[in-house]
Amino acid sequence: MQFNPLILEGSEKAYAKWRDTKLRAYDNDLQDAPVELDAENLSDQQLSQLLTRSRQFNYAIYRLDDPDAGDKSFVRMLGKKIGLQRLDGNLCSDEDNISSIQVMQTGRHTGYIPYSDRQLTWHTDGYYNDEARTIRAMVLHCVRPAAEGGENLMLDHEMAYIQLREAEPRFIEAFAELDVLTIPPNIENGIEIRGAQSGPVFSLDSVSQRLHMRFSARTRNIEWKQDALTQEALACMREQLDGNNPYVITCRMQSGEGIIANNVLHNRTAFTDADDSQKKRLLYRARYYDRVKSEENE
Ligand SMILES: [Fe+2]
Repeated sequence: MQFNPLILEGSEKAYAKWRDTKLRAYDNDLQDAPVELDAENLSDQQLSQLLTRSRQFNYAIYRLDDPDAGDKSFVRMLGKKIGLQRLDGNLCSDEDNISSIQVMQTGRHTGYIPYSDRQLTWHTDGYYNDEARTIRAMVLHCVRPAAEGGENLMLDHEMAYIQLREAEPRFIEAFAELDVLTIPPNIENGIEIRGAQSGPVFSLDSVSQRLHMRFSARTRNIEWKQDALTQEALACMREQLDGNNPYVITCRMQSGEGIIANNVLHNRTAFTDADDSQKKRLLYRARYYDRVKSEENE
């Protein structure tokens, strides 16, 4: 990005050029085409395809030649190859900081929708984190899909930015306000385990100088600024997510398939698990403080 996406005045030309390049990338319809990977030995060409897709769409879907090769060490290795080093740990991740996303009936996980079979509304990861723990990228690897449902929909947050700016440039300003979106504290058994988190929807990532987005479409336990412009911007955003948006892709990952992404907007549909406990949906999720690198030699 050759311009500051949060400064609108004077950036029209640079913005238009960047926007047109972004839009053109969709002409080849490669955004939801998986990159085929040799799990044991990723080739330079395979790696380069992943990086190109990430640069264009902020995500890439991949498919392993051997569906059983996708264990946690593969996820960690893949992350490193694309510049993802600093793993985020959270309350529910396993000891190695990679989370096993599956339906959990007991323990700490039970209060959290990711560990249920319910739908997950649109969001970017870590929208409740403080700045020091900003999630910039993730790897989501499917070990086993659900018997039915459990699709992931994704929208490149830079496309969301473009659609908002095209609708009304002032929406970008509203979403860049530092107090536009507040997540109330997380209280477990009467104890506050995370304080309230206020911040912008759109910000400029100080490391990469690229756009970062913090968003959740949930309607409970979330406080949006009440002014008219914010509310209009939010309505416009919801329309993009729930309407017939040509830039939203739907991905129902099969065993051995996965997604790498620069924390784009995503959701998950509800699903039904198989009765057999060995065949229930299982995804590995690694979240990082780094972004996917933009060049092979970086
Ligand atoms: Fe997520």
